Amino acid sequence: MGGKYATETLGSDEGGIARAAAILRDGGLVAVPTETVYGLAARADRADAAARIYEAKGRPSFNPLIVHVASLDAAREIAVFDDTAETLAVKYWPGPLTLVLPRRRDASLAPAVTAGLDTVAIRMPNHPVMRDILREIDFPLAAPSANRSGFISPTTAAHVLASLDGRIDAVIDGGACKAGVESTIVAVREGGEIEILRPGPLEIAARLSEGGIEAPGQLASHYAPGKPVRLDVTSADRDEFIIGFSEVKGDCSLSPEGDLDEAASRLYACLHLAAASKKPRIAVAPVPETGIGKAINDRLRRAATPPD
Ligand code: TXA
Ligand code: MG
Repeated sequence: MGGKYATETLGSDEGGIARAAAILRDGGLVAVPTETVYGLAARADRADAAARIYEAKGRPSFNPLIVHVASLDAAREIAVFDDTAETLAVKYWPGPLTLVLPRRRDASLAPAVTAGLDTVAIRMPNHPVMRDILREIDFPLAAPSANRSGFISPTTAAHVLASLDGRIDAVIDGGACKAGVESTIVAVREGGEIEILRPGPLEIAARLSEGGIEAPGQLASHYAPGKPVRLDVTSADRDEFIIGFSEVKGDCSLSPEGDLDEAASRLYACLHLAAASKKPRIAVAPVPETGIGKAINDRLRRAATPPD
């Protein structure tokens, strides 16, 4: 695709993981599968490495990154855990939960990672490849979703290359991601109150934040497929690529059986297909607003909102 890097595709075997760890140690960029989506990883403790993430994605510098760690002990070196945070981490880690917590003053994090905030977003992922890499290295990894800023998130190595080939050092091909939508983000406020900043695979009982641009991934337009998207459609127009669900058949289907977990895991693959099709517009069948359906509809609404 042309770009300043000759992007390598690595296997998810021992050799691929050792190569990925070596590139990361040197401050390079490697796209890595996680249980949610592919992340674009770089070491979080070096300014030059963090800067490369923003450059490769074309990400605005005010949008902070999630820090990925191998263990709760490693997380405690970066953020302040009160009882609430401790309980959530013990219950849900490793897994698709990101905690926004006060940043420790002595945390060795490049300032760009937290974009100047005094909080930090942190998670311990549960994917064998990401975990193997984190075990091989002795620094935390900053990793946003491995796509150009504002576009559809990647759930396969092919999606990563479609967006970032020539812009990153390597991608590890670990197959399709299981959950398919990004982690649930929960902020733990002083006094232990919790707030959902982004709905995701984990359902946690708490208020959904209405708070401005604190989580800029929450901007109204995101995951943009580059054409108009119409939601809650049961019968599509002839120039629409329809993404089906349950009894609404489509050009592809999130889940013919109406299974919401399957729908989440196929969401971005369907949006990538729709974006690449010859049809100029996209229609999407209704998806129930229950369980992980809330995260699916959150992403669909943003995909349907035109960029400024
Ligand atoms: O599942 C995931 O979370 C994936 C995988 C790769 O781990 N990562 C991911 O990263 O979705 P990204 O950068 O696409 O989304 C991170 C979100 C953004 O909306 C960002 O604004 C928010 O987290 N965020 C990061 N630090 C924050 C902070 N200190 N306070 C509030 N929001 C924060
Ligand atoms: Mg993203």
